[in-house]
Amino acid sequence: MTQTENKPLVSDTPLVPIEKIVSLCKRRGFVYPNSEIYGGVAGIYDFGPLGVELRNNIRRFWWWSMVQTHDNVVGIEGANITHPRVWEASGHVENFVDRLVDCKNCKQRFRIDHLPAENMEQHKCPNCGGELMAEPRVFNLLMETYLGVVEGDRMKTYLRGEACQNIYLDYDNVLKSSRMQIPFGICQIGKAFRNEVTPGNFLFRQREFEQWDLQFFVHPNEMEHWFEYWKQYRFDWYKSIINHKDRLRIRAHGTDELAHYAKQAFDVEYHTVLGWQEWEGIHWRQDWDLSRHSQFSGQDLSYTDPITKERYIPWIVETSGGVDRTFLNLLLDAYEEEPDPTGKEPRTVLHLHPWLAPVKVAVFPLQKNKEELITTAKSIHRSLQRLMVSQYDDIGNIGRRYRRQDEIGTPYCVTVDFQTLDDQTATVRERDQMTQIRIPISELPMYLLEHVAWK
Ligand code: GAP
Repeated sequence: MTQTENKPLVSDTPLVPIEKIVSLCKRRGFVYPNSEIYGGVAGIYDFGPLGVELRNNIRRFWWWSMVQTHDNVVGIEGANITHPRVWEASGHVENFVDRLVDCKNCKQRFRIDHLPAENMEQHKCPNCGGELMAEPRVFNLLMETYLGVVEGDRMKTYLRGEACQNIYLDYDNVLKSSRMQIPFGICQIGKAFRNEVTPGNFLFRQREFEQWDLQFFVHPNEMEHWFEYWKQYRFDWYKSIINHKDRLRIRAHGTDELAHYAKQAFDVEYHTVLGWQEWEGIHWRQDWDLSRHSQFSGQDLSYTDPITKERYIPWIVETSGGVDRTFLNLLLDAYEEEPDPTGKEPRTVLHLHPWLAPVKVAVFPLQKNKEELITTAKSIHRSLQRLMVSQYDDIGNIGRRYRRQDEIGTPYCVTVDFQTLDDQTATVRERDQMTQIRIPISELPMYLLEHVAWK
């Protein structure tokens, strides 16, 4: 893909308000506000029992498709704290800033890069129409921390402002220890910390969040080829896990938007109630990172081609996205309130991709007071549990149990009824179409694995 895709929206399902997702996440144990009993902390969240399953599935799928299925990519897991010089070399101490203006009247604070042009020109507050301060204030987003306990000997450093820096720090070690040769990539999933001045919109802009990065090291002559390859690959990857394909696009950055390290950049964007927003950045980082770290550390990070003996600083293609933003976008994409086709009550359903759904299957006995139904259902549940996340549920009527599973996105429900006791088959009900089929109990594991395991 060489052109910016800018397709019109064709999907007719309404965009889901963030509040619906916040409420579902709290009610069903996906996400909780951090330190809630103390009043919470802006921009920081904890993940509950279902949230951690969904998050792990999202991470695992990324790792599988980026690292395990590419012979020329390996993974690392770096620390959250690094030597402070790293952040001088990376340019973050100097350049990682937000410029903000305050309204003299309502005191609200706005990021300059988020202000509509006309408000900027007229110094007019978009909230109350009052006058904005003439001079913006500059805030660095790095979170400071201190190493050591003795006052005076403590060293100021930073929690990592972008996870990818560890990849440059470990590049030479990976090269020497893994027998990789250029072109090759290093992946990592890890936390990043930013003192966002305007955190908000739930998981969209947080102060502690998780990023997934690929840094792909290439010869400068091959930069164009690999940049196009990864841009297309990442776009297709996101497309494969959403329902509303028309809400995804890729957009080129204008020169005024480029980060200090990027010579060219594209965003994979997703359309929600927040408008078109960045989901992942694809950056042409050139030789910025390895050159700067060579310069600041005094270690030569250039590469010698084993055949031609040419010596050069590798150029880098970066694909950098957010685990939390993926979590949020997937819920916004999957959430639907549907009228019940039987006319009884509407259902809330998460049309999550079965690969990513936190619970893969729920097993029910048709009735709670029939011992044989319960024993058989529990035995099926226990055998499935060895292969995938399975839940056993015998509370309330069958309709209610289906609704509970629909709301958390469980793709399959298995019901043990009286026929099961005669012929050893059970019904399998599919979440989206609500169709049911009968399957021999002995075939359930293969049938379900076939549908919920990625391939
Ligand atoms: N190494 C490049 C880099 O960090 P970025 O565009 O600042 O680039 C990459 O961040 C991704 O991290 C974004 O596309 C987004 O998905 C996620 N991200 C960035 N800031 C975030 C925040 N405050 N809260 C949640 N996710 C964030």
